[in-house]
Amino acid sequence: MEILNITPVELDVHNNELILLDQTLLPNEEKYIRLKDKESIWDAIYELKVRGAPAIGIAAAFGIYVCVNDSIATDFDSFYREFSEIKSFIASARPTAVNLFWALDRMEKCILHNKEKSINEIKKALLDEAVSIKDEDEKVCKNIGEHALALLKPNMGILTHCNAGTIATSKYGTALAPIYLGQERGYNFKVFADETRPLLQGARLTTWELSKAGVNVTLICDNMASMVMKKGWVNAVFVGCDRVAANGDAANKIGTTGVAILTKHYDIPFYVCAPLSTIDLDTDTGKDIKIEERPGEEIYKAWYTKPMAPQGIKTYNPAFDVTEAELISAIITEKGVLYPPYGKSIREVFE
Ligand code: MRU
Repeated sequence: MEILNITPVELDVHNNELILLDQTLLPNEEKYIRLKDKESIWDAIYELKVRGAPAIGIAAAFGIYVCVNDSIATDFDSFYREFSEIKSFIASARPTAVNLFWALDRMEKCILHNKEKSINEIKKALLDEAVSIKDEDEKVCKNIGEHALALLKPNMGILTHCNAGTIATSKYGTALAPIYLGQERGYNFKVFADETRPLLQGARLTTWELSKAGVNVTLICDNMASMVMKKGWVNAVFVGCDRVAANGDAANKIGTTGVAILTKHYDIPFYVCAPLSTIDLDTDTGKDIKIEERPGEEIYKAWYTKPMAPQGIKTYNPAFDVTEAELISAIITEKGVLYPPYGKSIREVFE
């Protein structure tokens, strides 16, 4: 299946470069960019050249490795100081996806764990850690896919919002993982992809990768979700997430909460696919999740040849919303399917 050959985030060890599939150019151009310095890595994350919580984490891990691998520091304190400055800088690119901080924290723990070693040995340990973060993600997503697929039957209709697929992770995606596994096993799912305004991750990315894999996918505008549900075409909704709080509230792409509310009206299960790396036990509830706000121009200028709003119009452009735990039928992790009450099931899965 062609989709599984796409590598959205890669490391060129020989040239010490981070390689990213530039997602801002999709679906019209498949271009890989090579990055070496912290400024271009920050820009790539901020501009969504790499995006999707797990992929951002992998890019940050490879990115910080590439930056410190060039360091000429000869003692641990100077090396660690350099690392810490780069870490804070890259971490400031986007605030909501916890995988960014999770991956950078893992890299920091790796440095501290190896502090008695030579700088070259520490660099090698960092490389191994970054590669593990990517490799583990592939297994995690496959497991999420297996657990999610067990909830589905052949020929079902599935609606998804944003892009939680291959290019948002290292390989299988989270919310799209059961769709890929089902595709391999002849489930014949019919997928509805919300376009996902304003940055069109559903239209540009989800339909691109699913159709490449031969999945039966139909693009709809965000405001058509209710219509396809009313017609009985949707048996389940699967979405990814950027951060799940300890009580099960889940932040995901703006518009997710509206879809969740619709599922209650039409009695459709609403599933959130979440690697454990996206569950943040330090965040008590959704109210504690920082929601990224982005420039209003994304609403009325991006994708249009002329501005589609009067000059000077006031805008509000939150990039994520938080779906309350009570709207979520189950949270699907690599360790199994979690059901309410999430405070308890989340605590138990980490034990
Ligand atoms: O702004 P984005 O495109 O990075 O937002 C991505 C999402 O909201 C995804 O659903 C989420 O990160 C999960 S990706 C497996």
